[in-house]
This record gives sequence, C-alpha cells and structure tokens, in this order.
Amino acid sequence: MALGERQYGNLDILVNNAGIARRHYIEDTSEEEWDEVMAVNAKGTFLGTKHAIPAMRRAGGGSIVNISSVSGIVAIGWSAYNASKGATRVFTKITAVQHAKDKIRCNSVHPGPIDTPMLREGRADPATRDASTPQAPLGRLGTSEDVAYGVLFLASDEASYVTGAELVIDGGVVAE
Ligand SMILES: NC(=O)c1ccc[n+]([C@@H]2O[C@H](COP(=O)([O-])OP(=O)(O)OC[C@H]3O[C@@H](n4cnc5c(N)ncnc54)[C@H](O)[C@@H]3O)[C@@H](O)[C@H]2O)c1
Repeated sequence: MALGERQYGNLDILVNNAGIARRHYIEDTSEEEWDEVMAVNAKGTFLGTKHAIPAMRRAGGGSIVNISSVSGIVAIGWSAYNASKGATRVFTKITAVQHAKDKIRCNSVHPGPIDTPMLREGRADPATRDASTPQAPLGRLGTSEDVAYGVLFLASDEASYVTGAELVIDGGVVAE
C-alpha cells in the first residue's frame, strides 16, 4: 500500500517535482556530479512512477506530472541537468504509452526561468549568472504559481484526453 492510499484512501495524482541543478559545462562535470544529478532528477522520477503505478491501478487510474524543464527540450543550461531533464521528458512518453491501458495519464511540464531558490542560487554566482537566466519575451521571471496552474490542469479531469504531452511554461523562451 502506498503512502497516498494510507492517508487518503486512493492515490490519484503524482507530481515528480524534486530536482537539483549543477551548473557545469561537460568538460568540468565530474562523474560524481553527473551521477548525483541523474539520481535525483531522472532516477527519482522513475522510482516515484514505478511505485505509484500499482496504487493508481488499484484506484482505477490517475495522473502523473513530471517536472522537466526547457533544458529538457533545447540547449539552455549545462550538461548533466539537461540530460536528466531530457530523460524525464521521454520517460514521460513511455509512461503514457505503457499505462494508457490502466487509465494512467502522464505528462511533462517544462518551466523556463522561475523565481525560486534554485534560480536565485544560479544568479548569485557570477560564474553562472548569465547562462542561468534566459530572458523571457514576456519580460519577467515566472512564479511558482505560473507552474502550479499548469500542473493543476494536467492533474485534473479537464485534461482527461491529454497524455504524453509537453506543457511549456516559459514566458516564450523556447519559442524564441
Ligand atoms: N526554478 C527554475 O527556473 C526551474 C526551471 C525549470 C525547471 N525547474 C524544475 O522545477 C522543479 C522544482 O525546482 P525549484 O525551482 O522549485 O527548485 P528548489 O531548489 O527551490 O526546489 C527543489 C525541491 O526539490 C527537493 N529535493 C531536492 N533533492 C531531493 C531529494 N533527493 N529528495 C527529495 N527532495 C529533494 C528540495 O528539497 C526542494 O524542495 C525541479 O525539478 C527543477 O529542476 C525549475
């Protein structure tokens, strides 16, 4: 029995949100750093999904939302972080395809620059400041709420025909 079932009766929604950023170019990325980023961002998403699926099946279906990044679509960012977010993006699609029969939907969200501790940490470091903050055509940083409303939609029954999709919430960064 999964935690959500013990607390709420059913597990209907999983958001794989936990993530870390390490800001190094390929040549400066150690194996340990690569493994650390992949462990949290990619393997964490796999493990959350793996253990939620049986509970969602028991519930008759569910919605999984994976937090990827614009760095999972285009080359904004670094090395291990981009690879981990690209892995999350495609893992989302195989989850959607393998578990459509279980009425489990799975979609990815791709935030651009969002004003959180992760982004502030990158901006505070002069070595990474510029590359950490792509300028969005909408002219401001995103907020946690901007991302949360997208997650809310994908988690809800209003998105009942949406699976394997990518929702970009980036103020226009990728479009440019
Ligand atoms: N802030 C941005 O600009 C931005 C852009 C694109 C994607 N994202 C993604 O959004 C998600 C949320 O990031 P955020 O911006 O709120 O950053 P954040 O650093 O403020 O929050 C990250 C959260 O992940 C948790 N976490 C990290 N490692 C963990 C672990 N091993 N086990 C459990 N929890 C762990 C932290 O405790 C923290 O609550 C991440 O996946 C991040 O990659 C953020």
